[in-house]
Amino acid sequence: MTARVMTVAFAGIDTIPVDVQVQMASGLPAFSVVGLPDKAVSEARERVRSALSAMGLALPPKRITINLAPADLLKEGSHFDLPIALGLLAEMDVIGHEDIANFVVLGELGLDGSITGVGGILPAAMQASGLDRGIICPADNGAEALWAGELEILAPSRLTGLINHFKGTQILSRPCAPKVSSSPLSLPDLRDIKGQESAKRALEIAAAGGHNLLMSGPPGSGKSMLAARLPGLLPELNARQALETTVIHSVSGMLPEGGLIRTRPFRQPHHSASMPALVGG
Ligand SMILES: Nc1ncnc2c1ncn2[C@@H]1O[C@H](COP(=O)(O)OP(=O)(O)O)[C@@H](O)[C@H]1O
Ligand SMILES: [Mg+2]
Repeated sequence: MTARVMTVAFAGIDTIPVDVQVQMASGLPAFSVVGLPDKAVSEARERVRSALSAMGLALPPKRITINLAPADLLKEGSHFDLPIALGLLAEMDVIGHEDIANFVVLGELGLDGSITGVGGILPAAMQASGLDRGIICPADNGAEALWAGELEILAPSRLTGLINHFKGTQILSRPCAPKVSSSPLSLPDLRDIKGQESAKRALEIAAAGGHNLLMSGPPGSGKSMLAARLPGLLPELNARQALETTVIHSVSGMLPEGGLIRTRPFRQPHHSASMPALVGG
């Protein structure tokens, strides 16, 4: 029988479901990962092997093949460790095939069997919820998955914790919602700027009307300082915009633990950045 675990691959901020298929067949002992894995995914083999041996489990001397379907899509990232490990555990009859059938799984493994945080849990959880599945993700990212809605979330910090949960000896609790501070956000304020009355007026008009701004002046005259104060003039993000902004931060691994981004992002690309680097190829 082949164990199957669902995970996702990322294309920008979009997620594509990936089916991790694990097969153990008789033959010369081997362990291979196929389906266009990049270097980080190929190295999952070593992390998974070590994490299992840290729990006192040795891989059986069989021909082990991991296939990541669809096979023509490049798989990047370290979040494939956990689905591969769970597929192997199901094939070794440590956990049941049905235990993992209704989950989307993401997570990186440490050599000692710990599960470390990865980026992109929020869009993965949204995908899981769309597929009517739960999500298994690292404990560090558990709170992030909560934003996706009413799906089942398992957020273990170690592989043993997850196995105990499936065995029923120690049930994992749902991660707690992070505290969202209701205090007004402290953004840079226009009052820090001395003089520059016409520039401040231009900033206010641009914020009110949604216009573009082009600032020109010698270095040190306060252009960056003025620009950084624009988010403070703009209205707060609505729920949809906040979620979209949070997804982008999640995929790029810049999300502070479980927080929802509620301020408008301010980015300062270096002035020597090329046009494709700034706006895309
Ligand atoms: N009008 C101003 N009021 C207060 N501080 C200013 C003003 N203009 C410039 N500064 C100071 O000069 C520093 C450099 O300004 P900056 O915005 O980096 O200039 P630019 O981007 O035009 O090169 C600011 O961080 C601020 O400390
Ligand atoms: Mg500047």
